[in-house]
Amino acid sequence: MNLIGKNISYKYPSGKEYILKDVNIEIDSEKITGLVGDSGSGKSTLCKILSNYMAKYDGEVFIDSEKLPKSGFCPVQLIYQHPEKVMNPKWKMKKILDESWQVSEELFKEFGIQKSWLNRYPSELSGGELQRFSVLRALNPKTKFVIADEMTTMLDAVTQVQIWKKVIEYCRKNSVGLLVVSHDKKLVDEICDEVIYLNEINKK
Ligand SMILES: Nc1ncnc2c1ncn2[C@@H]1O[C@H](COP(=O)(O)OP(=O)(O)OP(=O)(O)O)[C@@H](O)[C@H]1O
Ligand SMILES: [Mg+2]
Repeated sequence: MNLIGKNISYKYPSGKEYILKDVNIEIDSEKITGLVGDSGSGKSTLCKILSNYMAKYDGEVFIDSEKLPKSGFCPVQLIYQHPEKVMNPKWKMKKILDESWQVSEELFKEFGIQKSWLNRYPSELSGGELQRFSVLRALNPKTKFVIADEMTTMLDAVTQVQIWKKVIEYCRKNSVGLLVVSHDKKLVDEICDEVIYLNEINKK
């Protein structure tokens, strides 16, 4: 299965210049793909487009020959660098997870989530604990591709390794595609089967 972005162009309503111009990208669900580029080059913007987070853009996103659905559950799930920014601060973790799907006991264990954390608000968890929740939220059984945008940048080395190990294991086992966006060249070289350089596919 392939996630395909065709002739993607994008300019923020407030901006003068195109951030992305005629970008063509293809991600194979059987591989782990890295996306690398300078800060401000448009990686996060492209990730948001590929995961249906942007309402308006030029070009099209497909999974194989099917256009990405504009409503309902999106089979491309984005994991952000700052999970607290995309969680409702007034909801407890249980509600935040239930909104996506009923996470299995097995996954709670695998990702080292303690049951007592479910009764807490996002502000009552550490960055690493919170990121485990946002990963689990993205691993809905209907998910076909996961985009990890600087997923572990803010975490310590041990937690980074733990989370990456579990995500990679899950994606490989379930044939879920994984796009890894990171500044960390070492991480990308270590875990990715192939690497895409945004400046090489962006014709701006
Ligand atoms: N909501 C917005 N409105 C206007 N401009 C924006 C907005 N979000 C991002 N930009 C601009 O678009 C460009 C691309 O931003 P983007 O976040 O996609 O870059 P990035 O490659 O992910 O960078 P980083 O590696 O620092 O995360 C930047 O110049 C940024 O200032
Ligand atoms: Mg970014």
